[in-house]
Amino acid sequence: MRVSVLLPAAGQGERIGRGPKAFLRVGGKTLLDWALEGFAWADEVVVALPPGFRVDGLKTVPGGQTRQQSVFNLVQAATGEVVLVHDVARPFVVRPAIERLLQAVRATGAATLVVPVPDTLVREDDGRYGGVIAREHHRLVQTPQGFRRELLWQAHQQARAAGIAFTDDAQLVRWLGHPVALVEGDRRMFKVTYPEDLILAEGLAQVWNS
Ligand code: CTP
Ligand code: MG
Repeated sequence: MRVSVLLPAAGQGERIGRGPKAFLRVGGKTLLDWALEGFAWADEVVVALPPGFRVDGLKTVPGGQTRQQSVFNLVQAATGEVVLVHDVARPFVVRPAIERLLQAVRATGAATLVVPVPDTLVREDDGRYGGVIAREHHRLVQTPQGFRRELLWQAHQQARAAGIAFTDDAQLVRWLGHPVALVEGDRRMFKVTYPEDLILAEGLAQVWNS
C-alpha cells in the first residue's frame, strides 16, 4: 500500500509570534526539516506552504486560510492509497507510534494517535472550579492521523460543500459517520504551540537520535 504523508505547514504561528512555525529552528534544523526526515521512508510527501514561501525539491501545494483548507489542497494532490496527515508543528516523529497507526488504518480505514490526559480535568465556570471531567474517558488528539485517501477526500469535499469547519481530519471523517480508531500516541510528538514549547523541543532535539 502506497503511503502519502501530507504536511500542513502553512500556519502563521501567531501564538509564538516569530513567523510561520515550519521555518523556526530547533537543534539546528527547521521544524519542516524535522518532519521531512521523520517521514523519509514514505512513498510520497506533500507540503502545504504559507503564501509567498517556496522550497525547492519538494512536492508542494498552496496553503489555505485555515488548516482544513490546507489539508483539502494536500489530499487533492495526494496519490497514495493511504494518507497520513501530520502537523509540521510536531517535529518529533516516533516510528513505533507510526507503525501502530498504519496497522489501525489498514484495519479500520481511519485512525488517529491520542495520549491520555495527564492532569485533572475540570470545567471552568466563570473563573471558578466547575465540575470535574472524568479524564480516564478523555484523550488528547495528536497527529499523524491516517486514512484511506478516498475516505478523507470524500469527507473534505462534503464538509466544504456543507460549510462546516473542523480543527482536525479525524473529526471530519467521524462527522461523515465513519469510525475512527484511537491509537496510543507518544508525548514526544507534542505540538510546538507556545514560545516555551520551543525550549522543550530544543531540549528533546539534543537527545534525539532516531
Ligand atoms: N496550518 C496550515 N494552514 C493553516 C493553518 C495551520 O497548514 N491555514 C498548519 C500549521 O502549519 C501547523 C498545523 O496546521 O503545522 C497545526 O496548526 P497550529 O499549531 O495552530 O499552527 P499555526 O496555525 O501556525 O499557529 P497559530 O494557531 O498559533 O497561528
Ligand atoms: Mg492555528
